[in-house]
Parts: sequence; C-alpha cells; structure tokens
Amino acid sequence: MSRRVSVHLLPELFEPEALQGGIAVVIDILRASTTIISALAAGASAVIPVEDVDEAQRVVQKFAPGSALLGGERGGMKIPGFDLGNSPEEYASDRVRDKTIVLTTTNGTKAILRTKLAHRVLIGAFANLGAVVAALQQGNAPIHLICAGSDGQVTREDVLFAGEVVRRLTGEFDFSDAARIAADVAANSSPETIHQALLESLGGANLSALKLNADIAFAAKVDRFDKVPELSIPDWRIVLPPS
Ligand code: MLT
Repeated sequence: MSRRVSVHLLPELFEPEALQGGIAVVIDILRASTTIISALAAGASAVIPVEDVDEAQRVVQKFAPGSALLGGERGGMKIPGFDLGNSPEEYASDRVRDKTIVLTTTNGTKAILRTKLAHRVLIGAFANLGAVVAALQQGNAPIHLICAGSDGQVTREDVLFAGEVVRRLTGEFDFSDAARIAADVAANSSPETIHQALLESLGGANLSALKLNADIAFAAKVDRFDKVPELSIPDWRIVLPPS
C-alpha cells in the first residue's frame, strides 16, 4: 500500500487527531524552523517550544542560572527581556553552545504545539531540506507536512518548501491534493528562484519591512545542515539525532 503524504497549508486546517500514527514535519521557513535548526547546529543542547511569553518565563526558571536562554519574537522583534530574537544567525555557537533555548514565536511554535499527537515530529526548512527528505524516505508512517503560515494566512515560503519535499520523495506515495498543489508551486525552482520567492512572500515582506533581509537570505540557502531536529514529545524538547 502506498504511503499517504498530506500537506496542511495552515495548522488550523487539520485536527490534531489526524496526525496520530504519522510523522509530522513543521515548516516555518521565515523564521522559526530555520532558527531552531540553526540553534541546534550551533551546539544548543535543546529547544523547548512554548506558547507564550509568560510560559517561556516560567519554563526558563526551572533551569540553573545561565544554562537556558529565552528566545523568540512578537511582531518579528525580540521580546523585551529575552536573550535572543528569532534571527537564525543570532544563534551562534558563542551564544548558544550547551544551552537550552526556551522559544516562543507567533506562528512556528504554535504549529509545533498542534503536533502533540503525532508519532514523530521533525523540524524542516531549506537549511536541512535534503536531510528531511532522506528521513522521510524511511519507514511507512503517513507523512504530514505542516505549514505554519503567518497569522492564519497561507505563506508561499512554507508551501514552496513542502512542495520541494513532495517533488523529491521517490517511491510509492499517495499525495493529497494540497501536496500536489505544493509540488506545482515548487516546479522549476532553483536556488535563485527560492531566494526570490522568499523575498516576495508574505513572511519575506514582513521581514523586509523590519530590515531583516539577511534572515531571508539565510533561510533561502538549501542544505546548510545535514541533520533533522526532532521533537521528543514525552519530554517536550527538540534535539538533534545522536551522531
Ligand atoms: C513565527 O514563528 O511566527 C515566525 O518565525 C515569525 C518571525 O519571522 O519571526
């Protein structure tokens, strides 16, 4: 029997129960999933995604002083009192190595919170596209590609990534209509067209308005990292697989 591949254009467009037994990939290209991958690649020990600022402040207090950092954004900007915003390049080794990052963002961490019932939850972005596809080629669980969107609106950058994944999967798959639509969006894409699409997307326009174009260029680069962060659901921490 062929494996079902569903693309969810927004987190609101599926019921959490629909993910039971499946492998979910959370996609927030601009910028939460790119930033999570960047933080872990830079040596952060884990990322804990939380819903809001109050919860982030409660969670960080459970850690020994200096061992955890608060990260995230509201309106695209660093949250007052937080250590880090949501720019992937802020999460450099000298800031994050061996630290736990407690992260809250407007859309990305909310999308992750809707995946609690999945069998496995991976974090995907152009930064680790090849590794995500390789991970999904294993096993038989249904695949759910979850686009975070922006404040309830579908965003091109997330759909473009989902489409790239769909196009690269090889074997016996049964694609949903939304998966086929995403693949059409990604048809004929190249490194240049991906960067241009991110610049022109809703998320890209929001970041350009905040003069955060460097984050768009960072997020557009394919295969910076060859690892796929995974949410350990029982202890609610996103970590890299053991090497
Ligand atoms: C989010 O999770 O809402 C986004 O990553 C927003 C942002 O660009 O910081």
